[in-house]
Formats: sequence, C-alpha cells, structure tokens
Amino acid sequence: EEDSTLSITVVGASGDLAKKKIFPALFALYYEDCLPKNFVVFGYSRTKMNDEELRNMISRTLTCRIDKRENCDNKMAQFLKRCFYHSGQYNSEEHFQELNCKLKEKEGSRLSNRLFYLSIPPNIFVDVVRCASTKASSTTGWTRVIVEKPFGRNSESSSELTRCLKQYLTEDQIFRIDHYLGKELVENLSVLRFSNLVFEPLWSRNYIRNVQLIFSEDFGTEGRGGYFDNYGIIRDIMQNHLLQILALFAMETPVSLDAEDVRNEKVKVLRSMRPLQLEDVVVGQYKGHSKGGKSYPGYTDDPTVPSNSATPTFAAAALFINNARWDGVPFLMKAGKALHTKRAEIIVQFRHVPGNLFKRNFATDLDKATNELVLRVQPDEAIYLKINNKVPGLGMRLDRSDLNLLYKARYPREIPDAYERLLLDAIEGERRLFIRRDELDAAWSLFTPMLKELEERKIAPELYPYGSRGPVGAHYLAAKHNVRWGDLT
Ligand code: BG6
Repeated sequence: EEDSTLSITVVGASGDLAKKKIFPALFALYYEDCLPKNFVVFGYSRTKMNDEELRNMISRTLTCRIDKRENCDNKMAQFLKRCFYHSGQYNSEEHFQELNCKLKEKEGSRLSNRLFYLSIPPNIFVDVVRCASTKASSTTGWTRVIVEKPFGRNSESSSELTRCLKQYLTEDQIFRIDHYLGKELVENLSVLRFSNLVFEPLWSRNYIRNVQLIFSEDFGTEGRGGYFDNYGIIRDIMQNHLLQILALFAMETPVSLDAEDVRNEKVKVLRSMRPLQLEDVVVGQYKGHSKGGKSYPGYTDDPTVPSNSATPTFAAAALFINNARWDGVPFLMKAGKALHTKRAEIIVQFRHVPGNLFKRNFATDLDKATNELVLRVQPDEAIYLKINNKVPGLGMRLDRSDLNLLYKARYPREIPDAYERLLLDAIEGERRLFIRRDELDAAWSLFTPMLKELEERKIAPELYPYGSRGPVGAHYLAAKHNVRWGDLT
C-alpha cells in the first residue's frame, strides 16, 4: 500500500449522481479510513473548472452524514485536498492523455491502480472507454471501470454495448453497478435466509404463496424527464433493481460466497424464468393533480417529455420461475414514480396453515391471516414477521401481530450508503455485488420481447393521479394470480 497510489476518476463529475452520491460516498470511505494511504480523486467532465471550483462544488453537495461527529470539518478539508479536476471532451484521446499526465504526476514512481467511474449517459460509454483505456490506463497496476446502468435498452443494444466495451476492456475490468445490491437489507437477504433455520426450509413453493417486490417514490421524474422518457420505469427499476433482488431471493444455495459461485446461482435462476408476457404486465403514467391547494405536474407536463409520450412511470408485473422450488409461485413486482409514498420492500406471503384449528377465531378473513415476512429496504430499514397471536383475555380471539426488528432501534449506528459499499468493493476487486455479463444477458432476455410488444403495439398507460396509489390495473393483475398486494392491506 505504501508504494502504490489509487486514483479514482469520476467521469461526468459535474452530473447529479456524482454530486449526490459518488463524491459523498468517497468522502465517507475516507472518513472511515477505508481508502488506501495514497489516493487521489479526479473529476472529469466537459464543464470548465479548476481544482478549487471542483472542491467548492463537492463541498457544497457533500452530505456529511457523520457531520455530528468531531473532526468532520478537518477531515473534509483533508479530503478535498486530494480532489482534482480535469476538463475534457468525452471522445478526445488527447484530453485523456492530458489526464494521464496529471495522474502520473500524482503517482510519482509508485505503482498505480486506477478506477474510473462512468457517471455519464450510455451513448458516450464507448467513447470514454476507448479514450480512457488507450490513453489513461495504468501501466503498472490495475485499471477498473465502473459502469452505471442503463446497459442498453434491450437484448440487442446491450449485446452491442458489451461487444464494443470488449474491444478495450476484459470482463474482469468491468464493474457493472446496480446500487440496490449495495443496500443493507438486500445484502442481508442471504444472511436471513441461509443462516436461520426457521427460514431456509420454508423458502419454496411448499410454504410460500407469493413474493412481492415493491418500489415506490413519492416524486416524479422532475428534471430527469429527458433521460427517463427513453427508458421508462420497467428499464429504470424492474429489469435491474427489482430483478436483482428477485434473483438473490430465489437462487439456490451457492457453493460459497465467492463472487463466481453466487453469480452462477443468480444466472441459473434468471435463466429458469419464463420471459414476461404482455398479459402479465400493467403500465401506468402519472397525470397532474392538485391536492390541498398545491398542484403537482403530470409526467407529460415536463418540457423535456413529448406531450404524447406513452412511457410508463408505473408498472406491475407477474413473473414465474420454472424450477422445482418455485413452480407456480407468482413473483409480483410493482414500481412507480409519483405515488403516495417512498418505499422499497420485499414481502413474502406464506400459505395457509392446513386445517387451522383456530379458523373461527380470526377477526378478519382467513386469507389476511397468513404469515407475512417483510423486509423494508427503505426508508427506515426493518424486518418484520406477521404472526397470529391470541389477544390476551378470557376469550379466544386471534390477532395478527408483528415480530419487529427495527434497525434504528437495534443498530443505532448509521447505515452506510449503498455506493460506499460498492465503491469499496470495486477498489478491493470484490465482484460479488456487480453484474456479470451473462446475468445482464439473462435479465434482458426476460424483458426484451415484452418491451418490444408493448412499444410496437403502443399500449397506452393507465393514467393515475400524482400522489395516488397507482393504477387500479395493478389490483386486477394481482387478483388474477390470487395475490393481494401486501403494501396496501
Ligand atoms: C435509480 C433510478 O437507479 O434509482 C432512479 O434511475 C431512482 O429513477 C433511483 O430514483 C432510486 O434509488 P434510491 O436508492 O433512491 O432508492
């Protein structure tokens, strides 16, 4: 470590993701002493700035989540001193060559490891990778590149992107990030399942009735309409974040926690799934709405969105896994923007107790009285298990209660942001939480035919008011598969 330098170059440094997530995550890692002794951070983008201006920009958006702790200002100043900037075009080998010189200057005679974070739109991925790999690769240590989604729009464009990147990088150098995999509760999913005897034996069609993966945001695409309209919620959230959770949830036990072993199991389960059918998908789009004297804009009111856009901002889907463990179990996904709440949850509904002795003692209908396990990914991380319990008293009345593990009560320490864990993993060369190429292909195969049909047939999304619970079609879809959405009951 003494004789090597790590440089982290954030390409697209003036963008939102860099400002909101990447720089703050790097600072948090620095604060926690997780970065190597000799590290430098470079910002690269087209905006003309000098080092000082970059530092000002970063410090303004640096959400020091540990700012209550002592020494934060000092640490922040130390960190900012290690941040530098180079302005350049994304397709200019010459500009990357200049960056290379600056990197070399910082590295001196030490061995150099270089991490590039591509926080840029996909249409310039290949240019940047070409320029960076030919002009700014490390010649003495490793070079790794983190790429953000979207990785293409469908199977074809994703394969094309892979083919282009392969000209310049080996699979080992590419770290495809899905930040949901860095979320604490998503990582915990495997712990919960594989190290608790009370769960793993129940993890199959024998005991589980359905699984629900729910993502909702209480704000629209404000300011991101231009990007979003090209992709829509299915590509933005379902094909990656929710599908990744599904794969972790449903995979068979991996041989070990090794990156390849885990990803082998994820690919296997993805490949056991049947591609989505249009009839198992409901799409929606939010429309303007006024509430309490305030008015909320509709999706197409965004000036960067065409007024006749049919891009879904909401979708619900039912997926199935054709294997012995999950045959017939619906996996329902629901994702939407501009809904009534901001939340991400994994809900597992268990089957009925056969011949339940107490069926007459339930206050509610028996169908609502089955066990349910909920992992609340955010906000306010929690795991709770709904169980049936006797209401204390002389009578015999049953009630559904929660065994509740609330993270902030049990673990008062702040939970690291997903980007912190993932950046650290990339620095350490740990690939388990990054998407392997075959995983990406499998994920696109599941969604591509349905997306194609949806777009070719110009299926109109069901409109729902901003701030509502989304289109009613989602209920019909669930009902068709005998499911009741767990977040609405
Ligand atoms: C991103 C999507 O991947 O995830 C955004 O592109 C979405 O549309 C975001 O808002 C949600 O992430 P988080 O961590 O805030 O739930």
